[in-house]
Amino acid sequence: MKRPPSTVHSPEDGPDLGRGPDVPIFRLARRDAIEWLRELPDASVDLVITDPPYESLEKHRAIGTTTRLKHSKASSNDWFTIFPNSRFDDLFYELFRVLKRNSHLYLFCDAETMFVVKPIAERVGFRFWKPLVWDKKMIGMGYHYRARYEFILFFEKGKRKLADLGIPDIIEATRIRNGYPTEKPVDVSAVLVRQSTSPGDCVVDPFMGTGSVGLAAIRLGRSFLGNDVSASAVTIARVRLRETGVQEEPGAPEPVRLALGPVGASPPAGRSDME
Ligand SMILES: C[S@@+](CC[C@H](N)C(=O)[O-])C[C@H]1O[C@@H](n2cnc3c(N)ncnc32)[C@H](O)[C@@H]1O
Repeated sequence: MKRPPSTVHSPEDGPDLGRGPDVPIFRLARRDAIEWLRELPDASVDLVITDPPYESLEKHRAIGTTTRLKHSKASSNDWFTIFPNSRFDDLFYELFRVLKRNSHLYLFCDAETMFVVKPIAERVGFRFWKPLVWDKKMIGMGYHYRARYEFILFFEKGKRKLADLGIPDIIEATRIRNGYPTEKPVDVSAVLVRQSTSPGDCVVDPFMGTGSVGLAAIRLGRSFLGNDVSASAVTIARVRLRETGVQEEPGAPEPVRLALGPVGASPPAGRSDME
């Protein structure tokens, strides 16, 4: 297996746990996404699937069309920190750098954010193929053309063939009800992991939330490096990933320094319809 890069946390990357080279592992961190990515070596990652908390989530919530939160009075910052559009240049630069030469990147977002990020991603060298559609199979909240889908932008670095050329660009999976805000179904990520990696490869998600990408990766025999600024997200992801029976590779102690001020994540004490 191509083991995940060992510089994710610190040079003291923990003991070799005696696993064979093909045994997947996972490693989690609680950092700002860009700071965390900066610590990964160049061309060390086989696939990135990620779901940043883009700015327009706030807008949807403010106008009450798609993302009303039962447990937030004013802002989804009660749930997680929004990632400002102004940081996408740095994010895509780091994503391009850490990905191997012939690899894929999938990014969940809405139509508004798609128009923001596409030119940025192309500027740093990605090829934009198309938006895939996650069809949630049921409508969400709102007042007109109620939301039933989300985009997953499909980017390529270099040239990599998909595993199965017969897979459609609409991925159907029922939305997660009453989960972590914007939690994605593991089955959606499983399609992407199968399409764009081989067993033993290393999958990365710098905004992992509950670790749904990690679960897909681990269940399919890939390794996973995950990160989130939120302590509760890291805890939830850790519990879910440990339940697979796969070993967590020890990392450095979680740093306190965060680029964006308060970490917005009280534990999901209740359920949200936000997606
Ligand atoms: C849209 S949610 C991801 C949900 C995830 N896909 C799942 O299935 O659970 C975005 C996550 O990004 C995290 N986040 C916000 N700002 C961040 C930052 N600057 N660096 C890393 N994570 C951040 C939030 O805490 C939140 O958990």
